[in-house]
Amino acid sequence: MNRNDATARVAHVFGGTLVHSTPRSAVEILQNCVLGVDDKGKIAFIEKDQDVVSLSKKWDFETSDIKRLGQYEFLMPGMVDTHIHASQYSYTGTALDLPLLEWLNTYTFPVEAKYKDLDFANNVYTKVVRRTLKNGTTTACYFATIHTDASLLLGELADRFGQRALVGKVCMDCNSAVPQYKESPSECKEETDRFIKELLKKEYPNVKPVVTPRFAPSCSSSLLTELGKIANNNKLRVQSHISENKEELELVKTLFPGCKSYTDVYLKHNLLTDRTVMAHGCYLTDEELEIFHETGSAISHCPNSNISICSGMLNVRNVLNHKVKLGLGTDVAGGYSPSMLDAMRRTLDTSKALTIQDPQHKTLSFEEVFRLATLGGSEALSLDDQIGNFVVGKDFDALRVNVCIPDGPIDLFPGEGPKVILEKFLNLGDDRNISEVYVAGRQVVPFSDT
Ligand code: GUN
Ligand code: ZN
Repeated sequence: MNRNDATARVAHVFGGTLVHSTPRSAVEILQNCVLGVDDKGKIAFIEKDQDVVSLSKKWDFETSDIKRLGQYEFLMPGMVDTHIHASQYSYTGTALDLPLLEWLNTYTFPVEAKYKDLDFANNVYTKVVRRTLKNGTTTACYFATIHTDASLLLGELADRFGQRALVGKVCMDCNSAVPQYKESPSECKEETDRFIKELLKKEYPNVKPVVTPRFAPSCSSSLLTELGKIANNNKLRVQSHISENKEELELVKTLFPGCKSYTDVYLKHNLLTDRTVMAHGCYLTDEELEIFHETGSAISHCPNSNISICSGMLNVRNVLNHKVKLGLGTDVAGGYSPSMLDAMRRTLDTSKALTIQDPQHKTLSFEEVFRLATLGGSEALSLDDQIGNFVVGKDFDALRVNVCIPDGPIDLFPGEGPKVILEKFLNLGDDRNISEVYVAGRQVVPFSDT
């Protein structure tokens, strides 16, 4: 094919092992493959390595340009963090000694109030974007704070460092123990409109706004109604929290006595759509999961947070049996780790704890958890037409993983095949093993300034 015609040029070609998920197979390992990325950052081809010469002619690249992966390297899809509070990153790894409602009033709201100060915001937001990218999070669904300008800054930083992001200006108008950390309903509506308008006006290719009521106890019914209207009128995504902790559940019952369940609160305010992702859901009933299935709403499973602040344990198997979309989230800083590898490990731990309680429970496999961190996350964020696995035409969001690095965290032994190597990376690996990160074809790690 002649490169002077209208087809896209090939920007990268990789040769070696690809590991990803498909709807039918939790882990598919493709060995001796070549994968090409066009100059728009999309996957142009995935072929067997047999006839590289004819491929190179067809796609107009030099065979010497192929980035050859070593024996202990593979490409995998970038990980999707479906729930992370960028604004809580400064105290990640601390303050895990209180249950949710006290934790919010004691630690979280006082810190989030500081984001009025854009210098403070710039420092923390730069660090969280860099830390998560380095750990392989190519897509993050972020909660910011109630401050519009700081939330816009988070979007700007994600774009600058090249992370795909959904960014939410937090909406809350009641029940905050920090008086200055809430808005009036009208202010909240106006600022949400401004946030959405200004972020969309930037035309960042991979950073978009998400309507973000904090959770039912922080929002009046009239605010929830307004946010439902904004989301539906503009076909925007929605994120919030649901059924995380028992005390919270009781509070919602008293605050919304006309609603049949926590799910019914969001349903009645038109906030459950096929573009909605709700974090936690530990105590959702089968009836509520049925509503999630019918509306196409997704759940973000945040196991580190669920255990760290003693909230509960989500039965992921039951959610999947109800055919509800599900991704994984770090829920920094309720969760103490910003790494999606940790989210996978904690997902397995929780699943095993449920099996200890009930031997009939079918424990999740590491393969299933790998799918939840990649393709599952893309589905939960309604981005699966664009990312999540290696399919021609999707954006190239990928990690180059090297399990065999000097003084690294993984030891290998003779005879270990690619599936074992993947399992060792998922259980033992860390950011040292993630040598390169790509988002929409752009190499974003190593950082260009280091
Ligand atoms: N529910 C409402 N706000 C929050 C938050 O910031 N973190 C967690 N884990 N749950 C919440
Ligand atoms: Zn959260």
